[in-house]
Amino acid sequence: MNRFIIEGGNRLQGELKIPGAKNAVLPILAATILNRGTSRIKNCPNLEDVKTMQGILASLGLKVEREGRDIIVYGKTLTANTVPEHLASRMRSSIVLMGAILGRIGEIYISYPGGCAIGPRPIDMHLSSLRKMGAEIDDLYNGILHCKINKFQGTEILLDYPSVGATENIMLAACLAEGETIVRNAAKEPEIVDLQNFLQNLGVEIYGAGTGVIRIIGCNEIEKDITYSVIPDRIVAGTYMACVAATGGEIILNDIDYEPVSSIAYLLRNCGVFIELIDSKNMKIKSEKNLKAIEVIRTSPYPGFPTDMQPQLVSVLSKASGTSVVIETVFENRYGYVEQLMRMGTDITVRERVAVIKGVKRLTGAYLDASDLRGGAALTIAALSAEGISTINNVMHIDRGYEELEKSLSTVGAKIKRI
Ligand code: UD1
Repeated sequence: MNRFIIEGGNRLQGELKIPGAKNAVLPILAATILNRGTSRIKNCPNLEDVKTMQGILASLGLKVEREGRDIIVYGKTLTANTVPEHLASRMRSSIVLMGAILGRIGEIYISYPGGCAIGPRPIDMHLSSLRKMGAEIDDLYNGILHCKINKFQGTEILLDYPSVGATENIMLAACLAEGETIVRNAAKEPEIVDLQNFLQNLGVEIYGAGTGVIRIIGCNEIEKDITYSVIPDRIVAGTYMACVAATGGEIILNDIDYEPVSSIAYLLRNCGVFIELIDSKNMKIKSEKNLKAIEVIRTSPYPGFPTDMQPQLVSVLSKASGTSVVIETVFENRYGYVEQLMRMGTDITVRERVAVIKGVKRLTGAYLDASDLRGGAALTIAALSAEGISTINNVMHIDRGYEELEKSLSTVGAKIKRI
């Protein structure tokens, strides 16, 4: 088991580069299944979830290579229709393979997806949408799904909730469907726009991503050699911003895209953090640590404040002067990490989806367990701003979304090592 040992209390200073977005590269890799040509995806982070997706593509018979930050998928041969259970169960994104694999070969065996322990994550919208497009889906045994289709039929789908994964699944299914598919109440996340851009590069007629209505006109076959670069990771950027906010210091983030992080910047500015856009790709963050509480903030789908930044924000607020209220509206059970923060001396009360955070003067280092990806990031932030030494166990959760986080943070003055 890997652990982080963190000596808190050091100001951060320097520059950090933002890597490609995990949540963009995963559906884009799933989309390469639709392409019989060669897809070269640039700016791919070297993360466990990305390696799992590469493994799944290879197990389907596709040739997959990594060259530095590029992943190349040769789409000619797709020989298998079964997604290995040990890979599918590792991450939530495996579910978007359904639309792509069914679209291309008409049959798939896949287990229910895995992912972080942040409450129930049903897939009802994925299944009902694909069924509406004509798929036959049976629950076999031990959580294995068997899905079949001759050819998807374009149709109109109104989502009950703008689910990111369900929107992506429908987009992928619709590419090789008969006729037009319209998704209403679609998710508007930047990763959805990135997927649309990738599909447009493949020649697919798809419009509207970033708004609540997406239209896709199906085609018979996709065969194109393309190169595509994924967008920067807004949650990694937000996490670094939260690190500086909590520890104090001044860093410049390179290769960012401002709009997707603007809600995070807005909140941190309200806490008293100085954030300045140097130019379209570089941003300065400066904090003197004397942060102010936030009256109330709700997580919500994009462009609202992202649920994936909620734990990191709570860590920042745990030392802000005054009382803050955070309401988690996206996931049912996303405060698992709070119990660990309490070991460091935070004053946080959680009741269902509401966390009340009373800012304390100091946190002290503690022995901690990361239980999920963003919760693990929150513990790292708290440990960086605490007095004394902290140990964070189960760093594998953090590794799912951050590439060698300890190395990046060390380059800007944090005392953090992996053992
Ligand atoms: C994606 C992101 C995740 C982020 C989340 C919300 C990836 C790989 N993951 O997850 O990091 O936290 O968006 O921004 O991109 N729901 C249902 N039924 C469904 C589908 C979803 O009830 O069929 C519910 C979920 O349980 C959850 C909410 O809808 O409460 C949002 O989920 P969704 O937007 O689908 O998130 P993911 O795509 O799983």
